Amino acid sequence: MTDNNAAQQIASGYAAGGAAVDLGAVVIDDAADAEAQVRIPLATLNRHGLVAGATGTGKTKTLQLLAEQLSDAGVPVVLADIKGDLSGLAQPGEGGDKLTARAQDIGDDWQATSYPVQFLSLGTSGRGVPIRASITSFGPLLLAKVLGLNATQESTLGLIFHWADQRGLALLDTKDLRSVIQYLTSDEGKEDLKGIGGVSAASAGVILRALSNLEAQGGDEFFGEPELEVADLLQQVGAQGVVNLLELSEVQTNPVLFSTFLMWLLAELFEELPEAGDLDRPKLVFFFDEAHLLFNDASKAFLDSIEQTVKLIRSKGVGVFFCTQLPTDVPNPVLSQLGARVQHAIRAFTPEDQKALSRTVKTYPTTEHYDLGQALTSLGTGEAIVTVLSETGAPTPVAWTRLRPPRSLMGAIGEDAVRSSARSSQLHAKYSETIDRESAYEKLAQKVPEASAEPSAEAPEKGEAQDAGMFQKAMENPAVRSFFRSAASAVGREVTRGLFGNRRR
Ligand SMILES: Nc1ncnc2c1ncn2[C@@H]1O[C@H](COP(=O)(O)OP(=O)(O)OP(=O)(O)O)[C@@H](O)[C@H]1O
Ligand SMILES: [Mg+2]
Repeated sequence: MTDNNAAQQIASGYAAGGAAVDLGAVVIDDAADAEAQVRIPLATLNRHGLVAGATGTGKTKTLQLLAEQLSDAGVPVVLADIKGDLSGLAQPGEGGDKLTARAQDIGDDWQATSYPVQFLSLGTSGRGVPIRASITSFGPLLLAKVLGLNATQESTLGLIFHWADQRGLALLDTKDLRSVIQYLTSDEGKEDLKGIGGVSAASAGVILRALSNLEAQGGDEFFGEPELEVADLLQQVGAQGVVNLLELSEVQTNPVLFSTFLMWLLAELFEELPEAGDLDRPKLVFFFDEAHLLFNDASKAFLDSIEQTVKLIRSKGVGVFFCTQLPTDVPNPVLSQLGARVQHAIRAFTPEDQKALSRTVKTYPTTEHYDLGQALTSLGTGEAIVTVLSETGAPTPVAWTRLRPPRSLMGAIGEDAVRSSARSSQLHAKYSETIDRESAYEKLAQKVPEASAEPSAEAPEKGEAQDAGMFQKAMENPAVRSFFRSAASAVGREVTRGLFGNRRR
């Protein structure tokens, strides 16, 4: 028997007048009350959110459900499809008895529906439309994260960018960065750096090695042009917002690059979008799946930038949802800014688990209706403990919620369907071909063959030594020296950097 009073008392805290995302119905004593709906007002989606839970508890389906309703409300979304199980958004769901029973139980007039999906991949070997960013645009902070650099190496990279930025020198791809680092560690380059500190050979060596690893993991096909324009993500098809699905392709073996790229996107959005104030619905909602990848081993500077970006992007009308197994994966300064909480079941096997559980319980408003420690470990699949911000910005009552089933297909649609959808996308013509515009590397490379025509006197031991040897040879060539001299005194527009060390336009 449902305790209608309790369920409806809870739901009254969610009864917003304006448009909202319907999550599902309140559950008391294992029974859902179809009359007691739990909703997130669209107007407070720019106050961000968290979707958490143990594996298999329904996090991804919750993201799917949120994305669907946002699309129907005309709001475009960006979803990181780490496990490749969100492509079903492009096709109507299959329904079935179990699903329709669930929908009925919670007062959901379920209908199979498909959504306008734009499939995107990092680099050129994925199935979606290839997207890229230039090294210059990424900037030293994000790149240091991708390269796994320590604080000293991070600041060395900062110095290298500073040198290039001041000269308006475009570092488009990894080859460009490599040639600039090699120049700055050469005798000639060292002269240039006088007054701003030098680039130590040790740090430069580490950075070059990390760069090689990154290239081997597909970074070389991601860094370059044409660079993604964020406006291409803010589209509508008819009245529906576009669902941008970013896949982590099989060859793309660097999840850190993936999550850092998402942070770059957010930083780009911050730079590009005008101040919006409080809107009745967000301009875009961004879902960060596997968010722990972003926070693990992150430097203080990096974490500070995430915190700042999340704080400030709100006023641009962008909502951010982090998705992770445990809320404790998200650092407190970020966690405390997440207004909506959809917490799926937590496993509490080990003492560590228990600690995380009681920490999680403490982050909820008090409730007389549930024993939260018990509730959080006994939630069914596709159920969650929810609290969001009401339209007045106050936390809503804690609600054990049975979530709506997604209306699109649960699961993947298959490789061919993704490929053909990507090929017929409007973005295909714009982004499918890599443009290798002449930049630092090309200018240098032109000179290298003549310079290194004679074999080097000492036999190089490893690849790096060989690179360095080649470079020394190249530096003996007056044409190469003059290239760098002209770069060093170039009057190109100086690159300025934003909150995240990303390039300002
Ligand atoms: N809202 C829902 N409606 C109906 N079924 C659901 C719902 N949520 C979850 N399920 C069922 O539970 C299964 C697992 O859900 P999901 O893939 O979302 O889990 P997850 O938390 O993302 O797991 P993982 O951490 O492994 O990625 C789904 O395949 C589906 O059968
Ligand atoms: Mg999942």
